[in-house]
Amino acid sequence: MDEVSFMEYTSGTVLAPMAGTTDSAFRRICRRMGATAVITEMVAAMGISRRSVRSHKLLGFHPEEKPIGVQLFGRRPQDFRRAAGVVSELGFDFIDINAGCPVKKVVRSGSGSALLREIPTLAAIVRAVCSETELPVSVKIRVGWSPDEKVPDSLPSVLAGEGARAIAVHGRYRTDMFSGEVRMEEILRMVENSPVPVIANGDVRTVEDARRLMDRTGASGLMVGRGAMGNPWIFRSLAEGLSRPPSPEEVVEVIREQFRMMSGYIPDEHVCHLIRGHLLQYIRGFRGASLLRCRATGVDCMEDLEDILGDLKEMLENEGLDDS
Ligand SMILES: Cc1cc2nc3c(=O)[nH]c(=O)nc-3n(C[C@H](O)[C@H](O)[C@H](O)COP(=O)(O)O)c2cc1C
Repeated sequence: MDEVSFMEYTSGTVLAPMAGTTDSAFRRICRRMGATAVITEMVAAMGISRRSVRSHKLLGFHPEEKPIGVQLFGRRPQDFRRAAGVVSELGFDFIDINAGCPVKKVVRSGSGSALLREIPTLAAIVRAVCSETELPVSVKIRVGWSPDEKVPDSLPSVLAGEGARAIAVHGRYRTDMFSGEVRMEEILRMVENSPVPVIANGDVRTVEDARRLMDRTGASGLMVGRGAMGNPWIFRSLAEGLSRPPSPEEVVEVIREQFRMMSGYIPDEHVCHLIRGHLLQYIRGFRGASLLRCRATGVDCMEDLEDILGDLKEMLENEGLDDS
């Protein structure tokens, strides 16, 4: 990856990794809308190193997605080292290490945010990845396990000392899971103590949210997760600095395009099933949405999808849509 592309990640507006949502087609859509870089959902380092089909399926991407990072999760440095070797050959632009996932199953295995309580292991993972790849490496963290177990001020320097070139921070503790106020002052603490760029993450759903997060933390870049679900246009608004909701035509055309993109790499019999989850994210925030969502859960073929898109367009025309 050249330095300019890496800056698109560290100083831009990045689509957050989200398991089950940020697949290749959605990442492409978000790049077209203005996301400056994207990241795969978390992929098990052990799965990659053991060549598991399930893990390898998550590694496919389209050149239009670049710059793209691959996110690895796990607990053993040797798995990360092997996985880093494998993914470095696949054309990714950077590697991100997951030290933030709060999900019980992940944490119980010592992965994700559990690594925040075991900094020597996290440091060894970063060292192992950096020793195996020429690609830039970042680490995605939370601000601590709990208010009583904040990450130490020294963490950014420790990670940078092992070779990490950037740190993405979701401004919550593990105990917060995904709710409660984003702790901007804790992100600021990371920024103040970091020798490498910090990307701030948490609850950006509007241009105002983005401004506030950047102003209050002094971060160099921004990462957007749930705010982009069913609303890839948020990246256009953020790039332009003012809210520009999509027209009803745009909404249905983007969903069609996403479906076409998915059809390019997913067998026909699975595409309809997989588009359902995305449809549910697009169909919300207007009168009649819940009924249409019910129908979306049963989409089985292209005709079903077109029926729903026709009704969606009509409802949006009657209602107007807001990207906030
Ligand atoms: C459904 C879902 C899946 C997620 N999967 C991942 C993941 O695979 N890797 C990761 O680092 N974070 C994951 N996250 C966390 C997001 O990347 C992000 O840090 C978090 O949602 C806060 O940002 P937001 O408020 O903009 O959504 C996930 C979040 C959601 C809601």
